[in-house]
Amino acid sequence: MIFTKICFIKCLIITQLLKLIQSQQFDSRPHVVAENLLMDYVSLGVIFQKSALQQSLYSQNVGNDSVQKNTNLVNIVEDQDKEINQNNLKSNNTRLNLLDLDKLQQNVFYVLKKKTIQDNKIQLLIQLYQNFDFYLNTYNNFIKCIKLTLYCRDASFIDLVAEDVNDDLRFKYKNQNFEQRNEKSFCFNNTNFSIFISDYNEPFQLKILRKNTNTLLFSLDERFVMSDKYIHLKYQASSKFIFGLGERNYKFKLEFNNSLYTLWNRDVPQDIETADSKGGHNTYGSHPVYLMKDTDYQDENNQTDTHFHLIYLQNVNAMDIFLTKQQEIEYRITGGILDFKIIACDSPSNCVQRYNVFLGKQALMPLWAYGFHQSRWGYQNIDEVKQIIAEYNFIEFPVESIFIDIDYMINYNTFTVNQTIFPLNNYSIMKDIEKRIVPILDVGIGLENQTLQVRQDALYYNVGVKDLTHKIYIGRVWPGYTLFPDFQKPITKIFWQNYTFNFMKQNNISAFWLDMNEYANFCHGICEELYQNYRQSYNLDVELFVEGLAYQPGSKPLENMSLSLVSIHEESGDLEFNFHNINGYLHSQSTYKAVKYEMQNPLPFLISRSTIPGSGNYVSHWAGDNNSSYEFMAYSVSSLFNFHIFGIDFTGSDICGFMGNTTQELCNRWAQLGSLYPFSRNHNHEKLLSQEFFTFDEFGGALFSFRTKYSLLKYYYTLTLNNTYKIQPAFMNFANDSNLYLDNILETHIMIGQHLISVPVLKQGQNYYEIYFPQGRWQILNQNI
Ligand SMILES: *[C@@H]1O[C@H](CO)[C@@H](O)[C@H](O)[C@H]1NC(C)=O
Ligand SMILES: *[C@@H]1O[C@H](CO)[C@@H](O)[C@H](O)[C@H]1NC(C)=O
Ligand SMILES: *[C@@H]1O[C@H](CO)[C@@H](O)[C@H](O)[C@H]1NC(C)=O
Ligand SMILES: *[C@@H]1O[C@H](CO)[C@@H](O)[C@H](O)[C@H]1NC(C)=O
Ligand SMILES: *[C@@H]1O[C@H](CO)[C@@H](O)[C@H](O)[C@H]1NC(C)=O
Ligand SMILES: *[C@@H]1O[C@H](CO)[C@@H](O)[C@H](O)[C@H]1NC(C)=O
Ligand SMILES: *[C@@H]1O[C@H](CO)[C@@H](O)[C@H](O)[C@H]1NC(C)=O
Ligand SMILES: *[C@@H]1O[C@H](CO)[C@@H](O)[C@H](O)[C@H]1NC(C)=O
Ligand SMILES: *[C@@H]1O[C@H](CO)[C@@H](O)[C@H](O)[C@H]1NC(C)=O
Ligand SMILES: *[C@@H]1O[C@H](CO)[C@@H](O)[C@H](O)[C@H]1NC(C)=O
Ligand SMILES: *[C@@H]1O[C@H](CO)[C@@H](O)[C@H](O)[C@H]1NC(C)=O
Ligand SMILES: *[C@@H]1O[C@H](CO)[C@@H](O)[C@H](O)[C@H]1NC(C)=O
Repeated sequence: MIFTKICFIKCLIITQLLKLIQSQQFDSRPHVVAENLLMDYVSLGVIFQKSALQQSLYSQNVGNDSVQKNTNLVNIVEDQDKEINQNNLKSNNTRLNLLDLDKLQQNVFYVLKKKTIQDNKIQLLIQLYQNFDFYLNTYNNFIKCIKLTLYCRDASFIDLVAEDVNDDLRFKYKNQNFEQRNEKSFCFNNTNFSIFISDYNEPFQLKILRKNTNTLLFSLDERFVMSDKYIHLKYQASSKFIFGLGERNYKFKLEFNNSLYTLWNRDVPQDIETADSKGGHNTYGSHPVYLMKDTDYQDENNQTDTHFHLIYLQNVNAMDIFLTKQQEIEYRITGGILDFKIIACDSPSNCVQRYNVFLGKQALMPLWAYGFHQSRWGYQNIDEVKQIIAEYNFIEFPVESIFIDIDYMINYNTFTVNQTIFPLNNYSIMKDIEKRIVPILDVGIGLENQTLQVRQDALYYNVGVKDLTHKIYIGRVWPGYTLFPDFQKPITKIFWQNYTFNFMKQNNISAFWLDMNEYANFCHGICEELYQNYRQSYNLDVELFVEGLAYQPGSKPLENMSLSLVSIHEESGDLEFNFHNINGYLHSQSTYKAVKYEMQNPLPFLISRSTIPGSGNYVSHWAGDNNSSYEFMAYSVSSLFNFHIFGIDFTGSDICGFMGNTTQELCNRWAQLGSLYPFSRNHNHEKLLSQEFFTFDEFGGALFSFRTKYSLLKYYYTLTLNNTYKIQPAFMNFANDSNLYLDNILETHIMIGQHLISVPVLKQGQNYYEIYFPQGRWQILNQNI
C-alpha cells in the first residue's frame, strides 16, 4: 500500500520534528508580567499537525457524458464562404454612451461570419452587425471585425484569444517563460469543456461550459464589444466564491455587491478596498486572474462534488473588473487584446498548480530568507544597526538580516552609498556585524547631483523613458528629479546589470529590496514646473488621448503617482499607457540576471513591490506600505493566500505594521502570525515609535513564535524544494468541506502545506481562539496563547 508507506515516512519526519521542538526550551520568556495576561503567553496561536494522510481528499469525478450533446461543435472543417468585404462598410458614425453598453443588443453586436475548426484550434471571424462605424469617442471606434481563436492545450486548459483582424499592433503582454501551447495536440473532441457557438448571422454567442456538470464557466455574448481603447464583456459567474484579482488590501473572498475591482500598478500606502462601485483601491501589482468554485454538483449518488476553475486574462492594460449583485463578472479593459487562459480542475489546488506551472518556475529563495529580518526607515548609521543587532542577540532572538532603507544613500541616489555612515565597502566592519545587510534599491536614477557617475552613465547611454519630444522624461522621486530606466531597451539592461553587479561586488550586501518600481512618481503624470510648455508643445491629439479615454478605471486618474501616460518606450514606440504594468517586471528580471549570472549567486533573494503574472520567476514580494492596525494584520492573510494563487509563494506583510504607532499587543499578535509568513520582516516608518521586539516590555510571544519557526525551517525548506510549502486557505486541501467556505473560517484558517493548520488571533483583546478541524486526526504541535 503506497499510502501507508508515504504516511510512515511523513510520520517519521514529523516525529523527529516534534522531538526537535521538545528538546528546545521555548519558555524562556524573560519579561513575563502576571497582570498582563493577554500578552503573557502570546505565540503562534496554535499549530495543529495532521497526523495521517487524508485517504482521499478529492473523490473522483463521475461525469455524465450525455450533457455533451449541448455542444454544437463538429469535428469537421467548416468554412462557409462568408468572407468580409471591408470595402462594403456603411458609415453611420453613431456615438454611443459607454454606460449603455449592456443595452446595445438591438443595434450593436457581433455576428459570426466564418468558422474554421482545425486539429487544435477553432477560429472564428465575427463582424459588427450592420457594419456601422460606432464609436465611444474619437479614440474609440468599435472594432468591426474580430478574430477569435480557441486553442486547446489539453483536456482541461484552453486559450481564448480575441484580436482585431486588421491590427496586429494592439498591445500584447507576451512572456516566453509561460508554458507554450503544443500546436500539434488534438483535443477539442476530448476535453472537459463543451463549447457552444451561435449560428451564422445570429447575435454572436460563445459559451464555454464544464462538460460533465454543464456549468457555465465563461461566455461572450451581445454585451461583448471591442473598441480601440475599451473592451467590454460580461458573463454569469458559476458561484459567489471568487478569489484573486489582486493586488489590494481586502479579505480573501471578493464580494459580488456591484463591486469594482481596479487593476493598475500603483504606489499607494494604507489603501483599503471598499468593494463598492467606485473602485480605485488597487495597489502595487496587477494580477487579472481569479479562482472560482463551480456551483456544487450533485452526482448520481447525491454526493456533493466540488469543482473549481481558474481564469487568467493575459493583459497588462489598466482595467476594472465589476462583480455585480446579480453575480456577473464584467470586464472593462482599456486596451490590448483578450487572451484568456481557462483552466477547469477538480480541486482548487489543481487549478493553482496548473496556473503556476503555466507561469513558469518560481525563483527559489535561499534558506536564510525564511528567517527573521529586522528593518526600519530611519536607521541612521551602521552603529545604530549594530546596536539593534546587539539588543536582539541579548534576548537571543534569531535574526538573519537587517534591511536598510533609503537612509544609506547619498541624497537617496540609487547605486550610491554614504560610506561615512554606512561603510558597506569596509570588509572588517561588515564582518564584525555578523548579520546580512539588505539595502533598498529604488529604480529611478537621480538627476540632481551632476558629479554622480551613475547619472552621467544613465544619460550617456540614454537609458531613460522618453517624453513625447523624445527627450528624457523627468519625474520626481526620493532623490528629486529622476529619470526612469526603460528596460525595454537592451542598453538599459546592460547599464542596470553592470551597476547592480558592481554595487553588489563593491559592498557587503546579500540581497536587494526593489522599491518604487510601479513606476512611482511623486509628480502625478508630469512635474508642472518642468513642463510648462510641454502640453502646448506636442499635438493636441495626444492630450486628448489621455483625457479622452472612453473609460477611466478606478476613481483616480491613472497618472496618479505615476509617469505620464504619454511618455514613450522608444524601442517599440509604446506609450506608458500600455507599458506601465510591465516596468516592475522588467526591473525585477534585470536585477535577477545581474545577481544570478554576473554575481553568480545561485539563489538571488529579491523582494519586489511591483509584480505581475510571471514576476515570481525572478522575485518574491512583500505587501508594501501597510498600517499598524488589526485590519491590516487580518488582510495580510488574504495577501498570502492571493500570492499563492499568483505564483509568488514567498511573501509577507510588514510585521507590526509600517505606518502608525504599533502597540505591544498588536505587535506580539502580529509576530505570532508573521512568523508563519514565508517572508518575516518587522518594518517601521521613520517618524514613529520603535517597534523592534526588544523595545517592548513583553516580547516572549514573539520570541516563542520565531523560535518555533526556526525549528521548522528545514521542514519548510524541504517542502519548498518539493514545491509543497504553500501558505493557503484550508479549502485548498479539503475542497469538499463546506464549512471551510464560511467567512470566519475561510479568512482565518491558514494551512502550511497540507499537514499544518494555524488560526491566528486577529482581534484586539481576544484571548482565545476558535478553530474548526477539517476531517482527519489532528494533534497540537505547539500551543501558547
Ligand atoms: C445523465 O444522463 C442521463 C441520460 O441522458 C439522464 O437521464 C440523467 O438525468 C443525467 N444525469 C445527470 C445528473 O445529469
Ligand atoms: C445609425 O445607428 C443608430 C444607432 O444604432 C440608429 O438609430 C440610426 O438609425 C442609424 N442610422 C443610419 C443612417 O443607419
Ligand atoms: C479526436 O480526433 C483525433 C483526430 O481525428 C482522433 O485521433 C482521436 O481518436 C479523437 N479522440 C476522440 C476521443 O474522439
Ligand atoms: C453591499 O453594498 C451595500 C451598499 O451598496 C452595503 O450597504 C452593503 O454593506 C454591502 N454588502 C456587503 C456584504 O459588503
Ligand atoms: C437523490 O436525491 C433525489 C432528490 O432528493 C432523490 O429523488 C433520489 O432518490 C436520490 N438518489 C439517491 C441515489 O439517493
Ligand atoms: C478532465 O479530463 C481528463 C481527461 O479526460 C479526466 O481524467 C478528468 O477527470 C477530467 N476532469 C474534470 C474536472 O472533468
Ligand atoms: C554622509 O552622511 C553624513 C552624516 O549625515 C553627512 O554629513 C555627509 O555629508 C554625507 N556624505 C555625503 C557624501 O553625502
Ligand atoms: C575599515 O574600518 C576600520 C575600522 O574603522 C578601519 O580601521 C579601516 O581602515 C577601514 N578599512 C578601509 C579599507 O577603509
Ligand atoms: C554629489 O555626489 C558626490 C559623490 O559623487 C558627493 O560627494 C556630493 O556631496 C554630492 N553633492 C550633493 C550636493 O549632494
Ligand atoms: C559600469 O559601472 C561602472 C561603475 O560601477 C561605471 O564606471 C561604468 O561606466 C559602467 N558601464 C556601463 C556601460 O554602464
Ligand atoms: C507616535 O507616538 C509618538 C510618541 O507618543 C507621538 O509623538 C507620535 O505623534 C505618534 N505618531 C502617530 C502617527 O500616531
Ligand atoms: C513531494 O511532492 C510529492 C508530489 O506533490 C508528494 O507526493 C510528496 O509527498 C512530497 N514530499 C514531501 C516530503 O512532502
